[in-house]
Amino acid sequence: MAIRLNDSYTKGLISDGDLEKISAEVSAADDVLRSGTGAGSDFLGWLTLPSDYDRDEFSRIKAAAQKIKASCDVFIVIGIGGSYLGARAAIEFVKSPLYNNIKKDTPDIYFAGNNISSQSLSELLSICEGRDVCINVISKSGTTTEPAVAFRIFREYLEKRYGADGSKERIFVTTDKCRGTLKAFSDKRGYETFVVPDNIGGRYSVLTAVGLLPIAVAGIDIDSMMSGALDASRDLTDKDISLNPSYRYAALRNILYRKGRSVEILVGYEPSLLLFNEWWKQLYGESEGKDGKGLYPSSVIFSTDLHSLGQYIQQGTRNIFETVINVRRSSYEVTVPNDSENIDGLNFLSGKTLEYVNHTAMNATLIAHNDGNVPNIVIDLDDLSAYSFGYAVYFFELACAVSGYVLGVNPFDQPGVEAYKKNMFALLGKPGYEEMGDSLRARIR
Ligand code: PA5
Repeated sequence: MAIRLNDSYTKGLISDGDLEKISAEVSAADDVLRSGTGAGSDFLGWLTLPSDYDRDEFSRIKAAAQKIKASCDVFIVIGIGGSYLGARAAIEFVKSPLYNNIKKDTPDIYFAGNNISSQSLSELLSICEGRDVCINVISKSGTTTEPAVAFRIFREYLEKRYGADGSKERIFVTTDKCRGTLKAFSDKRGYETFVVPDNIGGRYSVLTAVGLLPIAVAGIDIDSMMSGALDASRDLTDKDISLNPSYRYAALRNILYRKGRSVEILVGYEPSLLLFNEWWKQLYGESEGKDGKGLYPSSVIFSTDLHSLGQYIQQGTRNIFETVINVRRSSYEVTVPNDSENIDGLNFLSGKTLEYVNHTAMNATLIAHNDGNVPNIVIDLDDLSAYSFGYAVYFFELACAVSGYVLGVNPFDQPGVEAYKKNMFALLGKPGYEEMGDSLRARIR
């Protein structure tokens, strides 16, 4: 398996009896999930996606990525939440957080429509000046305000620069197969469209066109990414938590939650995991945080954050546990040089690789945090390849679904996200929300 799980650092808090007790619940959750009889079972498309995806669309994604690479210097991906986090996570994971600055033969990629900041949008527009631009707007509903506003602005920008016909060749739309204003609008204008399958929710959609088009534009091997997910879907089928690391992870985090550890911190020792952490936070936060329940998903990058949050983790409120992603192999080798004068006293590290020092930092921190009564689950990942990304995505999606069922929630809906949207529509004067707008205005302090 491309992922292994080490739970030796949870032993103080989790007993064999705890594991035995929860295994039956995990097994029941697996039954409900795989038989499609649980809450939210209309959204299980991700479960079989690695073997059952639209091959024709997959080829169209590759062709569109080639076209985009050939015709633009800047590629703007417009979307929010599940409609951008996965793609951004993959690009940083497989390529680099500095993707736009590294030497490459693929376009720079920027993400828009994930906030409502005029500064952010103005900066992106100025980055586009004098460079050829293509955009991919991604919205399953087609009605989300943030990407809809950004799309309108970028569309106008492209039409001014390239004319109606020229801009048509530069706009790619990923949305529902037949519903929604974005689909209707795209058909009317003749934009090339890609599908967010009906049975896959936003946060589970990175391995559909939602993620795959931007990922392919970045020059990442999407075939290899899908084979990682496929292998995970074949490896992670056992109900037994001693044989299935994904289910063991779901079990461990539920046991810890029941013991008062309601905050989970996902830890990476590579800056390229920063956006993967963000993707994971959405996946778990939106899937589990409901009905007054759920672990709060938080994240850090070490050793960076050991110098900001390390103190809290070591000695603060004991309601936390950590899940550490240990990347076993780096593709880069950097060695600490020897210095004959040794004025900085660092010669004890001469000839050692940074990878070795980083792993040592991880082991030192695992022991320290465990001594501070913070349980740690360690997830070993082979490397930061496209294959490992696909594998890890499937591993965490599966664990999330089972964990949600063990927790007793519907892991596939997000009713709470609507509350702010409705208030915003009402306050902005969207037709149909007039009365609500008046009552909300009276409540603004
Ligand atoms: O996971 C989800 O369903 C959400 O985070 C959505 O991805 C997000 O709200 C964006 O929605 P849409 O793609 O409809 O614009």
